[in-house]
Amino acid sequence: MQIDVLTLFPEMFDGVFGASILGKARDKGIVSLQAVNFRAYSGNKHNTVDDYPYGGGGGMVLKAEPVFAAVEDLLGASANLALPKAEATPPAAARPPRVILMCPQGQPFTQAKAEELAQEDRLIFICGHYEGYDERIREHLVTDELSIGDYVLTGGELPAMVMIDSIVRLLPGVLGNESSAVTDSYSTGLLEYPHYTRPASFRGWEVPKVLLSGHHSRIDQWRREQSMLRTLRRRPDLLGEAPLSDKERRWLEQ
Ligand code: ADE
Repeated sequence: MQIDVLTLFPEMFDGVFGASILGKARDKGIVSLQAVNFRAYSGNKHNTVDDYPYGGGGGMVLKAEPVFAAVEDLLGASANLALPKAEATPPAAARPPRVILMCPQGQPFTQAKAEELAQEDRLIFICGHYEGYDERIREHLVTDELSIGDYVLTGGELPAMVMIDSIVRLLPGVLGNESSAVTDSYSTGLLEYPHYTRPASFRGWEVPKVLLSGHHSRIDQWRREQSMLRTLRRRPDLLGEAPLSDKERRWLEQ
């Protein structure tokens, strides 16, 4: 997978792209990560990428030209940014790249969205620092507008890092233990069950006996119940969509 981030602060990505699991994924050649300063595409001698809003009002607006120019340079001028008309989803290599705008008005970013984006070959993230983006960027360039939550940050860089981290960890070969992405909170539709490691007794707090029993089906059952209870207590809003059997739903209701 190739991921490019358009930003005015590429240095913010140095640590995140170079360290830990993302750094290893990059070293293994599973993902190529690049932060590109789109100021280089301003097309004017003062290197400005923002301007006053038509119609007046406060704040500056990110101009369309540098953002289009940067994306077109990354993709090649002939890139077909139009969405495919075919009914069936074409293979990743044949799909136009996803161009993703970071903004607080976007759709909420979720685990399901991370899983969807992890199927793509090419992603471009656009990070702004302004009151707004020229609307033509939204209308004619981006394929997705995404938000990491109902709060406003100073720019799109942190949201892009959050999204890239959660997408890259899903790529095959990135996590040592493949199953750890499969049992994640949210991937199963439920929050994850509690984990324990040695010692079995710590300051008088005991590890649940069933986990020491070696009885795998009972352990699986206990974990499933703990996941359901934790989801009920902390995130009951998730239960409506969670893949629970009728028996499990009855058990939760009692
Ligand atoms: N830019 C500023 N705030 C944001 C948010 N919550 N999500 C995505 N991009 C943003």
